[in-house]
Amino acid sequence: MKRVLFVCLGNICRSPMAEAIFRKKVAEQGLSDTITIDSAGTGNWHVGKPPHEGTRSILDDYQVSYSGMKARQVIQEDLQSFDYIIAMDAENIGVLRSMAGHQKTGEIARLLDFLPESDIADVPDPYYTGNFEEVYELVNASCDNLLDYIKKSL
Ligand code: 4NP
Repeated sequence: MKRVLFVCLGNICRSPMAEAIFRKKVAEQGLSDTITIDSAGTGNWHVGKPPHEGTRSILDDYQVSYSGMKARQVIQEDLQSFDYIIAMDAENIGVLRSMAGHQKTGEIARLLDFLPESDIADVPDPYYTGNFEEVYELVNASCDNLLDYIKKSL
């Protein structure tokens, strides 16, 4: 069993989109019993809320389920209990690394590290840009490569 946690700032736009898209890909490959997926935010403003309407709308367009998803904040224990902690941007990585201190953690990486052909390193925040389609395209492409990477360690 491998555990994957997607992390952004608010856990209502980018990381829930990644969680939902990745869960669908994992299910399509018959790996739902082998890989578990969650998401969380470094901030606590939206705890308990469903994904942002922009995220819901684009997931509806692409027929990706986000049923039952609710925002939560990253907790210390996540850093050990997840094998892969996949952040949306450099700021998220900074928060995760400072939470971790010197403790051993799962593998912390930026999602777009898995999309080397992209000329940007951070997933743009659609909470500010309004561009949920751009986020979908980046997340969808990088999640294919992330899944290939994780499958090598199953
Ligand atoms: P996310 O977007 O990190 O992709 O979920 C944000 C959502 C909410 C806020 C910031 C970013 N906020 O400041 O409330």
